[in-house]
Amino acid sequence: MAIAPCKKRIKKIIGYKRNYFLPHVMRRLADIADMLTYNPVYTRNCQYDMQTNSTDVDIPKHRGRSMNKKKLVIFGASNILSDLFDCALAHGLTVSTIVLHLPETPGERDISLQERVKEWGAHGPAPAIVDLADFTPSDDELYILGPTTPTRVALEEAITQRFNLKFHTLVHPRAYVSPLAKLAAGVFVGANSVIGPGAVLGRHVFINRGVTIGHDTHIGAYSRVQPGSNVGGLSRIGHSVTIAIGATLLERLVIGDHAFIGAGAVVISDIDAGALMVGIPAKFKKSVLPS
Ligand SMILES: CC(C)(COP(=O)(O)OP(=O)(O)OC[C@H]1O[C@@H](n2cnc3c(N)ncnc32)[C@H](O)[C@@H]1OP(=O)(O)O)[C@@H](O)C(=O)NCCC(=O)NCCS
Repeated sequence: MAIAPCKKRIKKIIGYKRNYFLPHVMRRLADIADMLTYNPVYTRNCQYDMQTNSTDVDIPKHRGRSMNKKKLVIFGASNILSDLFDCALAHGLTVSTIVLHLPETPGERDISLQERVKEWGAHGPAPAIVDLADFTPSDDELYILGPTTPTRVALEEAITQRFNLKFHTLVHPRAYVSPLAKLAAGVFVGANSVIGPGAVLGRHVFINRGVTIGHDTHIGAYSRVQPGSNVGGLSRIGHSVTIAIGATLLERLVIGDHAFIGAGAVVISDIDAGALMVGIPAKFKKSVLPS
């Protein structure tokens, strides 16, 4: 007599487990497996040379290497250092050394390197600050450039003249980089940024926090995209271009080398090399092409 309701109850429990519990567990296990095998948002190393068009995407190998390497060395000081430090913390890396190539000259409203390093003391050992002339690389280190200004070109030259270093591609774990995007050595991608499928970021491209790069857009070496900017798809951005905070670029645009797009600008047409563009729609203000 009591068997029928009992059977019914067991069926109900099994049904519940099958419908809710098991799929939930399976999904979590699949997520963990994904993270362990291939996770593009974790850290990646895709070599892409904008000049030669050669690609060498090698995520799993790199992932193994970066897991072994726990120290991050930053070349050059800038106000963005805290973001690099923050990203290192998120990856469980220690910023072991800051290598200075020039004497630090903080402006009135800047925070000095000493002050920053003091703040970091609460989160781990303070990095050593050494002069480029006194620096010796070691096997357990990853390397990234500190400054985001066009002076990075000279800094990288000074480093590569001395050492044969491979720069790290540092992606904040809270960024999303499409597996179909390609990121060159030395690229940084900040928290909450999204790099769309088919996007290509050249050497040392700096993507700040909360940026979106549209599908199939290519960004040339040493360019930087500041917080909250949106770059439409299918565009070709030159090298050493600055896209300032909160700018918007429509799709299918060609932006010349060294162009500077001012804060909050809305770019609706192509921009010549070295043009400073401001406003909505963005208008030419002056040339900032380096002599
Ligand atoms: C483009 C930029 C560099 C201009 O700075 P600047 O050369 O010092 O310009 P000035 O302050 O001398 O202004 C020059 C003219 O452009 C105008 N202007 C400057 N920036 C402007 C902007 N973003 N939008 C609209 N007009 C702007 C000024 O009103 C001024 O106009 P006027 O000649 O009619 O008086 C600056 O606006 C900018 O975008 N800086 C980058 C901000 C940023 O992204 N920082 C990083 C944060 S993480």
